[in-house]
Amino acid sequence: MKALIKLGGTLLDSASQRDALAAQISAARAKGAELAVVHGGGKQLTRYLAERGIESRFVNGLRVTTPETVDAVLKVFTGSVNHELVASLNRAGALAVGLSGIDGLLVEAEPMDPALGAVGRVTKSNAALLRLLVANGYLPVVACVAGDREGRIYNVNADQMAVACAAAFGAQQLVFLTDVEGVMDGDRHVRASLTVAESRGLIESGIATGGMLAKLNAAVAALTAGVGQVRIAAGAADRVVERLLAGEEIGTRMVTGEAPAP
Ligand SMILES: Nc1ncnc2c1ncn2[C@@H]1O[C@H](COP(=O)(O)OP(=O)(O)OP(=O)(O)O)[C@@H](O)[C@H]1O
Ligand SMILES: [Mg+2]
Repeated sequence: MKALIKLGGTLLDSASQRDALAAQISAARAKGAELAVVHGGGKQLTRYLAERGIESRFVNGLRVTTPETVDAVLKVFTGSVNHELVASLNRAGALAVGLSGIDGLLVEAEPMDPALGAVGRVTKSNAALLRLLVANGYLPVVACVAGDREGRIYNVNADQMAVACAAAFGAQQLVFLTDVEGVMDGDRHVRASLTVAESRGLIESGIATGGMLAKLNAAVAALTAGVGQVRIAAGAADRVVERLLAGEEIGTRMVTGEAPAP
């Protein structure tokens, strides 16, 4: 099983939760799963900026990224959040390698919208680098920062980064682990499954907002990119990595909505 696990920033904010997830990921690798990790760090970045008197502004769940935000993005995403996770995975027995899209141009981007500043839309990913690491026993841990051939640096929404890496990696499964149990509908019930049309409906009716709006758009893109199984689940759920990789239904499963092939 080849899988990409995306860890939401909030899950990594508590050392005990981070260590628990690191132990699960490391154990899954030891059992033979081929894994790569992408992580966010939205909460940590907002806190870092607030401590410096800088207010965070979002448009459709994407952070408006000024030049001073880019500096903070590097310090927080590729710096502390990435390397604390790498260290935690190493302690759990994995040989984790921390990197971002800038390294070996793992993920290239272009500006998404001038109004968003240095927010990047992924244009290309370097599948060979991920495969090289995994084939040699390393666990890639990718921070959501991308580059380009002009040396520019982009802040990429971590869910979009996960989709790009999952596609490049040829992952059969993409798991978004986050701080809620799944995608909630208008009655605040967690949906067990969600078609592309239903997720558009949740966005258009204003039920899925902010980070979940961005995540649903990314999840739909993952299905379109050919990732077979896409799930959104709580990182805090008991043995969540093992159970999801075993195919258990936890949280929300994204489905294309077409009838399965006979
Ligand atoms: N319909 C919805 N169902 C569930 N969560 C929702 C919904 N609408 C909005 N949300 C919000 O989306 C949040 C999850 O997205 P968020 O971007 O904050 O986390 P993440 O993607 O896991 O972390 P990061 O952005 O750091 O990678 C939830 O905590 C919740 O507040
Ligand atoms: Mg998010």
